[in-house]
Amino acid sequence: MNDLINSTRENFQTELSHASGEAELEQLRLKYLSRNGAIAKLFENLKTVPPDQKPAIGKLLNMLKSEAQAAFDDRKDALHKSVRSAEAGLDLTLPGRPVPVGTKHPLIQTMDEIKKIFTSMGFSIATGPEIETDYYNFGALNFPPEHPARDMQDTFFISKEILLRTHTSPVQIRTMERQKPPVREIMPGRVYRNEAISARSLVTFHQIEGLYVDRGVTFSDLKGTLVAFARQFYGNDVRFKFRPTFFPFTEPSADMYISCFLCKGTGCRMCKNAGWLEILGSGMVHPHVLKNVGYDTEEYAGFAFGMGIERVASLRYGVDDLRLFYENDVRFLRQF
Ligand code: DAH
Repeated sequence: MNDLINSTRENFQTELSHASGEAELEQLRLKYLSRNGAIAKLFENLKTVPPDQKPAIGKLLNMLKSEAQAAFDDRKDALHKSVRSAEAGLDLTLPGRPVPVGTKHPLIQTMDEIKKIFTSMGFSIATGPEIETDYYNFGALNFPPEHPARDMQDTFFISKEILLRTHTSPVQIRTMERQKPPVREIMPGRVYRNEAISARSLVTFHQIEGLYVDRGVTFSDLKGTLVAFARQFYGNDVRFKFRPTFFPFTEPSADMYISCFLCKGTGCRMCKNAGWLEILGSGMVHPHVLKNVGYDTEEYAGFAFGMGIERVASLRYGVDDLRLFYENDVRFLRQF
């Protein structure tokens, strides 16, 4: 009985795939699916099956019946459609026109990759407003009132107190105001600076900020975290160095450099013959900053860092004019 069911199924399928036209389909229906068709006959044979096998065989038969009916209906449907489209002068067998599929913008790709590395280390993601107050962008970050960064030359002021943020560091303050330590966040976003647009500077670009505050955080945590990031992002064989620098909101502060991944440190156009590339700014969060958000500086310490996405992406992909990232020329975008 089993064999009979299988061979009926196979025969039906072969004949269905060869049937073209209404008449042939109707014949097939009579042969297999009608009241006197092959499948109905099989159901009659069920009487001769030993009682203990009846449920199983019955189930197989029911499956065969509904499968065959569904396949038949599909086929009939398709036939009707193609008849109609042929009448309308359409040839559905012609290959379709390819639809080009877009890709993620290289800056977003870069940002996503950086986020993935830090979230895998236990950082979460925070964001803040692009329109900021002088307090969050400068004051709370320990910029003295007369600091040159506040100057109209660098900052787009909306009013005396309101401005377009010049960096993602104000999100540090907002994050710390919202929660008690431990704080372990990265903060990606767009920033604005009042500069002449050129191959090397734009009026808007992106940064990713990082912040880790807890009991007993030290400079070696900063180094360990950033080196682990750089190895994952730039490759295991990069060498690195930290060089002292100054930021109002960190003390001590350090710029991180990696060995040029193009020339491996021997000197080339990319690293301007230095052999080293600066990839980010960092430091231990200044006690004034912790005090400004009400953290106890006897109990807590932290490190922070910030990097420019356009810079990282341009180094990585060898793009020597930052304006290309914003022109959205598909000949450029297609390369990523
Ligand atoms: N905000 C700095 C800038 O825009 C980058 C930066 C440096 C952020 C050091 C930090 C840091 O959090 O610790 O140039």
